[in-house]
Amino acid sequence: MRSPTTLRLFSCVPLLLSTASAASNVVSLDDCPSCDTLKPAIQNVDDCPACLALLSAFQSIALTGDDPFITTLTSLCIGLGTADPDVCTGLIAREGPILAHDLRSISITPTSSPSSTAQKLCDALMGMCVSHPVTPFTVPFPKPAPTHPKVFKSRGKPIRVAHLSDVHIDRMYTVGAEANCTKSICCRDFDDSPPTPPTVPALPNGNSHCDSPISLADSMLEEIERLNPRFSIFTGDVVEGATWLVDQAEVTTDLQAFDARMAAKLSASIFPSLGNDSAPVNAFARTSSHAMNDSQFVFDTQSAGWEQWIKPAAASEVKHLSGSYSAQVPGRGLRIVAVNTQYWFKQNFWLYDSDVFQPDPNGVLAFLVDALQAAEDAGDRAWIIGHIPLGKEDTMIDQSNYFDQVLQRYRNTIAGMFFGHSHKDQFEIAYSNYSAQTAENAVGVALIGPALTPTSGNPAFKFYDVDPDTFEVMDASVFFTNISESGFQIRPTWNLYYSARTTYGPLVGLPPNEPLSPAFWHNLTEVFVANETAFQMFNTFISRGGAVTPCTGGDAGECKNTTICDMRAFRSENNCDTPAEGFSLRRRGVDQIRSDADACEGTGLARMFSRMFGV
Ligand SMILES: *[C@@H]1O[C@H](CO)[C@@H](O)[C@H](O)[C@H]1NC(C)=O
Ligand SMILES: *[C@@H]1O[C@H](CO)[C@@H](O)[C@H](O)[C@H]1NC(C)=O
Ligand SMILES: *[C@@H]1O[C@H](CO)[C@@H](O)[C@H](O)[C@H]1NC(C)=O
Ligand SMILES: *[C@@H]1O[C@H](CO)[C@@H](O)[C@H](O)[C@H]1NC(C)=O
Ligand SMILES: *[C@@H]1O[C@H](CO)[C@@H](O)[C@H](O)[C@H]1NC(C)=O
Ligand SMILES: *[C@@H]1O[C@H](CO)[C@@H](O)[C@H](O)[C@H]1NC(C)=O
Ligand SMILES: *[C@@H]1O[C@H](CO)[C@@H](O)[C@H](O)[C@H]1NC(C)=O
Ligand SMILES: *[C@@H]1O[C@H](CO)[C@@H](O)[C@H](O)[C@H]1NC(C)=O
Repeated sequence: MRSPTTLRLFSCVPLLLSTASAASNVVSLDDCPSCDTLKPAIQNVDDCPACLALLSAFQSIALTGDDPFITTLTSLCIGLGTADPDVCTGLIAREGPILAHDLRSISITPTSSPSSTAQKLCDALMGMCVSHPVTPFTVPFPKPAPTHPKVFKSRGKPIRVAHLSDVHIDRMYTVGAEANCTKSICCRDFDDSPPTPPTVPALPNGNSHCDSPISLADSMLEEIERLNPRFSIFTGDVVEGATWLVDQAEVTTDLQAFDARMAAKLSASIFPSLGNDSAPVNAFARTSSHAMNDSQFVFDTQSAGWEQWIKPAAASEVKHLSGSYSAQVPGRGLRIVAVNTQYWFKQNFWLYDSDVFQPDPNGVLAFLVDALQAAEDAGDRAWIIGHIPLGKEDTMIDQSNYFDQVLQRYRNTIAGMFFGHSHKDQFEIAYSNYSAQTAENAVGVALIGPALTPTSGNPAFKFYDVDPDTFEVMDASVFFTNISESGFQIRPTWNLYYSARTTYGPLVGLPPNEPLSPAFWHNLTEVFVANETAFQMFNTFISRGGAVTPCTGGDAGECKNTTICDMRAFRSENNCDTPAEGFSLRRRGVDQIRSDADACEGTGLARMFSRMFGV
């Protein structure tokens, strides 16, 4: 048995890792009879066959029922010192039944094929067996692309649109609580908080180890209102990151409370999309899986909460189409198409309960196609909004490819795509030919919003200047508040951090009145390759000047190379995040730290699994 100190670096939760090895809470594995039989399987899980053997061993336990499965996994988690006991217990009680259901539903053999569900589950849980190819699937379209696509002409003065994301509000944030704790978020009183006075007491407006206090979210909404947007988009994630405690009741009240706060503070319409907010976190069941309909409460809550902005027809779609909707921006030829990206997210463990390949879980892609076809037929333009951008290693490689097919087909209709999730200020470019990544071939760009939560840099939101007729983005500005400034705890002040047009325009040679087109963003990546100063500026911008990760190196596999490669990867098969088969995610140095943070899903089953059994 490995010692509980074999813990590793996980950039998202450094505190958790550095302190969880304090062996004070270790329970004896002697109390866990089934752990004995697992011993051979849980040692040295360092390649794909070993991961399949591990899953197979757990499958035998799952077949005897959820309870023994949960007991065993919890004993191992606590016994190996993987996380605090309350975190192990809470998380496995929540996510364990889904994993047990998966293991009972699929076949796992040492020769499971690279495209098998078993291998995909190893990828999601442990970062092993990652080199599976895209499963070929041609997305069906109701009509071929028009031979003479509509030309959209620009006329008027730009309108302004706010983009907020990843607010992660902790309604139990407690001023004076410990901000230097052993969990993924601090600044609240946990059941096992020590009685001693805190070493770092939480101050009123936030801390980089804690999710957002309500006061910080209010302050951002007030600033957005002051800037007077025509409308706002919100790309998801409301609930805080104490994933081992979150239940349906909390998710429901948190979502309702933030809907009410946005309604109270913002006078213009808001077009929101769902994030990972469910219970357990990230878990959205497929309707065809005969599982419980356990995310319907999220769809019902947001259908009711969003109706005031998106109107009844779209609210009904939220309820009946698994959280996605299409809505008209009042008085404009623009439709917002919001997609629930959780059905393409590797960490949604409901997606692994069938050996039969599922090209379009819950029909989200089919919905997207219908909504874009309707926009094309009406001569409208569309913006796609969603939580998770599709280019990173945390998105299913298959659905990312299929989404790209939809983009290629409707590229004349799609005027913008907006996401969140990474907590970072980033972009991802789509090409008509990914083997020839040129400005001419750049056909789409996903703009990724920074987060409010201070856990990954300074709190920020984006503001776009948008052409009122083409709905193309003319400028993208980031506003931020600096948590290190002395006045922040008294009253956060928000300032313009930078404008993409002002800062990047001259570097690219962008002519006046031209939009920030996909070609512009491509040319900016060329500038980054050639101009180290410009690239380092971007690298600082990613986290709004807080918690900056050094990033250098022009050769394959080095950080700068990987980062630029990822900017050119709207499809996840094209990113440079994927490790060689058999390599643990954790062996990848700086690039891994970066991409791990990008793919940050907080404390979840995968993080726990890798930490327990990975090498
Ligand atoms: C945080 O807590 C740890 C463990 O209790 C302690 O060793 C460390 O000094 C604290 N850090 C600060 C900045 O007080
Ligand atoms: C959701 O995802 C975010 C990353 O976007 C992560 O920080 C958080 O812990 C996750 N869980 C919840 C409940 O929000
Ligand atoms: C699941 O939700 C769908 C959509 O609202 C509904 O039609 C269906 O009846 C629900 N199923 C169960 C078992 O509750
Ligand atoms: C894509 O680009 C590659 C490299 O330039 C080229 O060989 C290939 O023919 C192109 N494919 C298409 C469909 O144009
Ligand atoms: C991108 O660069 C190419 C090649 O230098 C140039 O022809 C094109 O006009 C540029 N496009 C934009 C939008 O900057
Ligand atoms: C490189 O970028 C910096 C700003 O980041 C700019 O000041 C400088 O002029 C650029 N150099 C060249 C050669 O374009
Ligand atoms: C934030 O404030 C600190 C302390 O005043 C300062 O050192 C830092 O440069 C500021 N960061 C940004 C991005 O302005
Ligand atoms: C990445 O590294 C490879 C090999 O050194 C090189 O061919 C490629 O141009 C680099 N890409 C970028 C974007 O720097």
